[in-house]
Amino acid sequence: MKNVVVPDTLLDTLRKYQQEHLLEFRDRLDEAACQNLLRSLDQIDFPEVARLIESALKRSSSKETPTTTGAISPLRQVVRLPETEVQRKALQQAKRQGQEILDAGKVGAILVAGGQGSRLGFPHPKGMYPIGPVTDRSLFQIFFEQLVSLSNRHNVAIPYFIMTSDATHEETEQFLREHNWFGYPEKDVLLFRQGKLPAIDAHTGKILLAGPGEICMSPDGHGGLLQALKKSGLLDQMRQRGIEYLFYHQVDNPSVRLCDPAMLGFHAQHESELSTKVVAKRSPEERVGIVAEVDGVQQIIEYSDLDPELAAQRDEQGRLLYWAGNIAVHIFNRTLLEKLTLDQEGLPVHIAHKKVDCIDRNGEPVTPDEPNAFKFERFIFDAIPQAKNPLVLEVDRAAEFNPVKNRTGDDSPETARAALTSQAKSWLEKAGWEVNPEAIVEISPLVALDAEDLAELDLQIRPDQKEILLIPEQGDS
Ligand code: UTP
Repeated sequence: MKNVVVPDTLLDTLRKYQQEHLLEFRDRLDEAACQNLLRSLDQIDFPEVARLIESALKRSSSKETPTTTGAISPLRQVVRLPETEVQRKALQQAKRQGQEILDAGKVGAILVAGGQGSRLGFPHPKGMYPIGPVTDRSLFQIFFEQLVSLSNRHNVAIPYFIMTSDATHEETEQFLREHNWFGYPEKDVLLFRQGKLPAIDAHTGKILLAGPGEICMSPDGHGGLLQALKKSGLLDQMRQRGIEYLFYHQVDNPSVRLCDPAMLGFHAQHESELSTKVVAKRSPEERVGIVAEVDGVQQIIEYSDLDPELAAQRDEQGRLLYWAGNIAVHIFNRTLLEKLTLDQEGLPVHIAHKKVDCIDRNGEPVTPDEPNAFKFERFIFDAIPQAKNPLVLEVDRAAEFNPVKNRTGDDSPETARAALTSQAKSWLEKAGWEVNPEAIVEISPLVALDAEDLAELDLQIRPDQKEILLIPEQGDS
């Protein structure tokens, strides 16, 4: 460290915010490691972190305080799954309207892929996970093939904005490049990195060190999207490209219907600034955030914040009053994203009490048995209360929400693959084919995006076929 001078301004800042310990082990570092540490320190917004530390430590003395305060009531306005002929016609009408919006080139897509995917335990970015039931095609491939299909069909560019983090950026870029962006024009794939926030010691409020020259940092949550878009200049690009609507989705749901025309249509009809897809909760106990109203304003309430008694309430027909499970599929107006990034404070910060590996005051590694740290994240759905005419749309869970979250059990690769097969089977059956109940089925989005597309194709399926794979024939574009 002898050759590296620590700027006085940094020393003053560390002193002011009582974080001088971050340089305590600097004599153990070689010059490169030391420069690295100084760069990391330079990226921390200490005044902001001080505010976060203050609220985390306050909360630790009353840990049970929920982040949602106010009177909770059920959703008043929602487009439910169609049950009547009139509703089915409205859906078709919305779909046509959405297709016109796509034709006009006003739609872009946003994928948030910066998460660490710790529950799944896959040692690569989650989008690389092989999920195709027959071919093991990756989550990324499924999304890209949908966009290839849509942009060909509507003869427009649909820019794909992909948020990564330090943990996922390089590998994601390399993977997409190696696969030639799955046939999508490289100019329409825009990768950008989200920000990060430090983890702090839950007792002292000191920022934790992962090693003598390494600060414990983690991605700032999917709500980091807003600042990351602004900093990368991509909001300006959206405007210059004439994009008015951004379809937002997460990396873990292979059943997502990218840029769903019906959703776009309803969104435009309601003059909504932010729409959200929901599914009916399976049970009051299901651990999923719900969309409801708080003091009359639409909001997403985390499952841990919803009183179990409220969660169990039902209407006269026996249906859950708080039924609308959030599946993290949204449409944002570009102008709303712009407006939200003007707010200095930004979205609220959620505090999580977690186990974080670190080093102690003597520089010895610590692997805690109990939560020892506070981590900070922003959630994109906290934008909903700030949106005009927020719209909620109910969709069919089996068809649109089969996330890969856990290694085994619910929401695992096994359940997602089974759901993809059964969805593909139901499309084939709708198209008039008899399918072996045991068959494993995979349909590339390049071949069909829904059951209606399949009906138009000339297929050969045998009722005894055990494996059905529909991919474009060689030479098809
Ligand atoms: P999750 O809440 O499932 O978190 O993210 P995760 O980090 O992927 O997984 P676990 O909790 O560690 O197992 C939902 C979506 O938000 C993205 C993820 O990539 C995923 O698409 N995300 C999450 C980000 O882009 N950045 C973040 O900081 C957190």
